[in-house]
Amino acid sequence: MTPDGKKIVFSGVQPTGNITLGNYLGAIRNWGAMQDEYQCIFSVVDLHSITVAQQPAELRKHTMELLALYLACGIDPEKSIVFLQSHVHAHAELAWVLDTIAYIGELNRMTQFKDKSRKHQDNINMGLMNYPVLMASDILLYQTDVVPVGKDQKQHLELARTLAERFNNRYSPTFVVPEPYIAKQGAKIMSLQNPSAKMSKSDENENASIFLTDDVATVARKFKRAVTDSDTQVRYSLSEKPAVSNLLTIYSLCTGKTIAQCEKEFDGLGYGVFKEKLAQAVSDLLKPIQEKQALLLKDKAYLEKVLKEGAEKANYLANKTLQKVYKKVGFVPPIR
Ligand code: TYM
Repeated sequence: MTPDGKKIVFSGVQPTGNITLGNYLGAIRNWGAMQDEYQCIFSVVDLHSITVAQQPAELRKHTMELLALYLACGIDPEKSIVFLQSHVHAHAELAWVLDTIAYIGELNRMTQFKDKSRKHQDNINMGLMNYPVLMASDILLYQTDVVPVGKDQKQHLELARTLAERFNNRYSPTFVVPEPYIAKQGAKIMSLQNPSAKMSKSDENENASIFLTDDVATVARKFKRAVTDSDTQVRYSLSEKPAVSNLLTIYSLCTGKTIAQCEKEFDGLGYGVFKEKLAQAVSDLLKPIQEKQALLLKDKAYLEKVLKEGAEKANYLANKTLQKVYKKVGFVPPIR
């Protein structure tokens, strides 16, 4: 809670590769709407991204693109704190302290660690395993009340809660125990090629994901190739028609219509018409974001100003918590 009684929100996206429609609908889209009611803190979590090998120049480029994307999606740096994770050293420092109260067994059980270990068998590094502790550090440093994320981050958030409670019990109340905010609709957008897998930045099949940078023709082509279910009805049923249900969810979120209204709109029309309308709706949503992002990327001075001010604000808050933590664990404060 801030001194003026606002709850604190923290969230972040990794600057790895192309940001997907899943990242947008499951997370970023919800952030903008929270900015008036909450004190929001949004980070481009670059420290996280190196748990999978990155090309340094690409990482720098993706980081600035993601920052511009946040702003293009309506994150207002006058209202919210926007910063790069690597600009606030306290994230790595608190992660170290939390490491000493996190159990190997707990981290071993994390679904994302298991998935990523399977995908990157030649690089199962300690950071990959440690990742959820760094994520807990991100959240707990800011005394966060609410964390808006997609469904895939729920398990990591539970660990953040566990670590907060464990630290509070072992030392004394220090951290707010954060609550997840997982939207009812859109929290798990599925792959366009396989409705039992989530849409993911790292999917090798590029037809599986809509990227926020996709142009009109690419969006149309990807939806045209999207898998559908056996009959020809545009109907929502997760058990019988998982692929079409996923497409209906996307259409509903992009147009603001309810699922029932969407079903009615395409009653008797079949998949062809539906997919064309869907592609149009998604492109209509993406176009203004892409235009704003491109303009912002040309204004390096403005982006750097946002980063400088964001880092100052984030450092102030993060250091306050870190100092408290260092005191509680028994470190002698620096002599000034
Ligand atoms: P990341 O970068 O994988 O994803 C960013 C956000 O997008 C959500 N998301 C989805 N939502 C719906 N459908 C999908 N298919 C989909 N794919 C991804 C994710 O749930 C996430 O909210 N560990 C985090 C980043 C992070 C973080 C944090 C988040 C680091 N520290 C602290 C919140 C608080 C991650 O890898 O997200």
